[in-house]
This record gives sequence, C-alpha cells and structure tokens, in this order.
Amino acid sequence: TCMRLRSVVRVTSRALSNAVEGQRQVAAATDEDPGARRTFAEVQKERQEQAKHTVLINCPPNVNEKKFLKYLSQHGQIASHFFYESYGTHAVVEFLDKESIESLRSGTSLPTVENECSLPFKSRLFTLKSESASGNVPVLSHRQSALPINELIQKLCKAQNIEEQAYALLEMHQLTDESIRLRFLVSSLVKDIAAAYFPEATVNPYGSTVNSFGKLGCDLDLFLDLDDIQKRSAVKTTGPFTTEYLTKRVPSARVATQRILSVIGECIDNFGPGCTGVQKILNARCPLVRFSHQPAGLQCDLTSDNRIALRSSELLYIYGSCDHRLRALVFTLRCWARVHGITSAIPGAWITNFSLTMMILFFLQKRSPSVIPTLDQLKGLAGKEDKHIIDGHDCSFVSNLNTIKPTQNSEALNVLLGDFFEFYGNFDFSKNCIDIRKGKEQNKPEVSPLYIQNPFEQTLNVSKNVNQSQLDRFVALARESAWIMQEQSSHPVQKENAAWGLGTLLLPSVFQGIGKIKKKRKRGPASDRIKSLLDSLKTNGKAR
Ligand code: CTP
Ligand code: MG
Repeated sequence: TCMRLRSVVRVTSRALSNAVEGQRQVAAATDEDPGARRTFAEVQKERQEQAKHTVLINCPPNVNEKKFLKYLSQHGQIASHFFYESYGTHAVVEFLDKESIESLRSGTSLPTVENECSLPFKSRLFTLKSESASGNVPVLSHRQSALPINELIQKLCKAQNIEEQAYALLEMHQLTDESIRLRFLVSSLVKDIAAAYFPEATVNPYGSTVNSFGKLGCDLDLFLDLDDIQKRSAVKTTGPFTTEYLTKRVPSARVATQRILSVIGECIDNFGPGCTGVQKILNARCPLVRFSHQPAGLQCDLTSDNRIALRSSELLYIYGSCDHRLRALVFTLRCWARVHGITSAIPGAWITNFSLTMMILFFLQKRSPSVIPTLDQLKGLAGKEDKHIIDGHDCSFVSNLNTIKPTQNSEALNVLLGDFFEFYGNFDFSKNCIDIRKGKEQNKPEVSPLYIQNPFEQTLNVSKNVNQSQLDRFVALARESAWIMQEQSSHPVQKENAAWGLGTLLLPSVFQGIGKIKKKRKRGPASDRIKSLLDSLKTNGKAR
C-alpha cells in the first residue's frame, strides 16, 4: 500500500505541476514569444497531415515489436507508432513519407476466404499475418478508455488536497495524444470513403475530440465538408464564356445533405472495413450517420450541415486554453454528472456534456473578477482573419490565444467547485436563461425548464431536450454537493484509505434517493451515510 501510495501521490503532484508548468509556459509565450501558442486551425492541420501518413494494422497475437518495426521499415521510415487493444492488438503507424503507404499497399494482397467473398475495397487498414514473429515480451498497450469509477476514486483518495484530486482526475480522463491520433486516422479513413464520390471532400473531427474537453472513450463527431467544393467552383475565368457543372437539383440544402449522407452511409456500411451498426438518422434536426468503428473501438457520428458546431468546438478550445483551472473543473463536473446520472450515454431528457460545459463557462464569467472572458469580449479581440458569418450568424471571435489577457482571479479550484454547486443550487431557472455571449442572465424567451442560449444561433436553446424533473435532479444534487463540500472544509476527514473530497462527491451511494424524493430532507442522514461509507472504506483499506 505504501509503495502504491507514494507512486500515486507522485502522479498527482506531477499532474498539478504539469498544469502549472503548462500555464507558466503559456505566460512565457505571451511575454517573450507571441508566436509560441498555436491556433486551433494550426493544431487541426497538423493532426490531419499526420493522419494522412498513418495506417492501422491488426497485429497477430503476441506480436514481436522489434520484428514488426523492422518489417514495416522496409517501406520507409516510421515517424511514430503505438499499440492498443480493440478486438485484438492493433498498431497505429505513422510513416514519415506518404509514399511508404503506397509501397506497403503494393505488397499487400486481398484475402482469400472460404465460402465467402471479400469486397475489394483497399483502405489503409491492414491485417498482418505471421507464422514466426511472435515475441515473449507483450507490447505496451495504450489505454483507450477511462478508468472504472471505483479505481478512479481509490487513486483520488491518495492525493493531498481537492485541487490535486481535480488535476489527477483531468490527467486520468483526458484524451491522450495516442487517442487523438487514432481519432484523426478514423476521420481520414472516412474521408477516403467519401472521396470515392467527392474527391475534394474533407472530413474533420469536431466536438469533444478537438475542443480539449474530450474524455477517453467519448464519441467521435465527424463533419463531412463539401462546402469548399462549392467555393472552389466559383473561380473566375477570362473570355466570353463561363462554365458550370450540369448537376441534379433537389428542393433544399437539407435534402441535399440527406441524399449525400444517405449514400456515404451506404458506402460505409457496404465497404468500410470494420464499420458496423450503421444507422442513418436523416430526419433529425441535424441529419447524421451513426456507426461503430470496431478496429478503433469508437462510436462515430457523421454529419454534414452543421458548420456552426465547428465554431463552437473552436470556441471551447479557446476557453480551455484561457485558464488552467477550467479544464480540471469541467472534467470533474462532467464526471460528477455522469456518476449521478445527470448526464447519460443514451440520448433523452438529460443534460448533455455540452450544456453542462456552457453552464460552467457561464459560472466562471460571473465570478468577480471573472475567470474567463465573455464571448462578446472574445469577439471584440477578433482580427480580420477571424471574421466568420455562417448562414447569417456572426460566429467571429479571436483565434490568436496570445491576445487574451490572463485573468486577475486567483480563487482555488475547490472554492470554485463548491461555489458552482451553490450557484446552480440557487439559480432562478424559472426566470433566467444562461448566455455566455453576454456573461449575464437574460430573461427566458420561452418556457423550456432549462434555457441555455446557443452562443451563435441565438434563437436556439442548447438544452431544449431537458425536462423539469431532470433539472430538479440537477438542482437537488448541486445543493447536496454544495453541502458536502462545506462539510468537508469544516471537518476534514482522516484521509488515509478513505474517500474524501472528490472521492465523496463521486460516490454514487452517498446521493442515493436524492432528486427522487419530493419532500425536503433533513441534512442529518446524508452525513450518517457518508460516515458509514467512510468507515467501510477504512475497513476495506485495512484489509488490503
Ligand atoms: N452541439 C451544438 N448544440 C447542441 C449539441 C451539440 O452546437 N445542442 C455541437 C457542439 O459543438 C458539440 C458538438 O456539437 O461540441 C458535438 O456534440 P456532442 O457529441 O453532443 O457533444 P461533445 O461536446 O462532443 O461532448 P461528448 O463528449 O459528450 O460527446
Ligand atoms: Mg461528442
């Protein structure tokens, strides 16, 4: 126990110092080298380029890493590689040059299968066959999913304080570099399928894969971009004539999107190696094709007409880089919401991660001094190159992170967390709507129980799906959590081998029945429940 304890404490301290170091570097970049902080677009571009040079290989059991690398190096220099498990061992291999992939392809054959026939779609997904290349040392496999909650709580309990716990949770939950590489690779593989019809189409990840709030295992949101094709077709020519393509016509852009997604969905279903469970959900407000990419272990949502969502992904990325406390707070609260069933993996009347994040941003804008700027302030900092009008909506905001001044607010993370619960435990949801553009409550324009204004399409409510009973549960849990946070700061618990701080907040059983019971409960029983839970944890801890 002692050794484990030491190593975990080291990890959590490192997590905190990484974050602080990151912030220090950010500050240094602002003072000395304004070019050091890359924009969202630059980061995306680099990831996309990497993905084009990358292949996915299904490896034989017990593959020998050395032999594996030697074999592939015949085709060219390898820039990076890693292994992970999803229906067997897989390797993501990035070559330095794209030509290496052609070389690999040229030596690859289509499989011959008995009693079946393989469809001859040649992608960048390969199966490596071997008779003799297995090794004694298992390859290091990179984790692609988050830790189970009980293991997470155990790790958190070894930290020194709530702040360290939050940074440790961030470090354990956030997408790793490897996971992001794999996600961009899948995006690039889907692009290859779309390119069969639309050679100039691009496919870009958006949502939590790129907005810096993605948790290991979260879904992969993909945007099929055909707009650039239209823009390029408007090139001027000289002479007495202009030419345009003869095309089919449909009644609206929505119908065009539905047609295209329907066909691409068919292609993914019929030819996409490893793509299973393809569902076309074309009548949704935002039509989409949902499928599972088995070799990557990812659930994917492919859409095509929601360019504004790309902007909100970039906006969240900007906020995520504004202040180091923000991502730790968002990951902590997303985890809290998930374990207590406030958010859910199933679509329905629940609050979504996106809505919850908007609520956290709004809360941080309302601090005094504010922790992050309002969207209008970010728009005020925007340069000419940042101007984006999409379907008549102004989606402009600054892209250069160096122009955003660091906050004067230095409140501790545990204070912000406790006050978040208090803020929403007492928020007048019946009257007010949440607006991150202004950073101020506005009157609710309609009766939805929870109204969070879409930052760009200001007549839309991001949380239109949420019903009154889900909102009531959120408020009840926020109140209970505010109380637990207060209790913990006034009566610090014996920390060793016991759930404390975030550990207590994340124990599902502490909150049993909250939000289900209508009548007001006394505070006493919760503290009894915590006490008995802590006692049982102590006993378990000793037994180890
Ligand atoms: N989005 C939006 N309005 C909504 C829901 C979603 O603009 N009502 C956009 C946001 O940019 C969001 C993206 O669509 O980031 C993807 O939605 P979703 O997958 O629901 O959220 P994520 O942010 O990806 O979070 P999660 O990890 O839960 O998938
Ligand atoms: Mg998502």
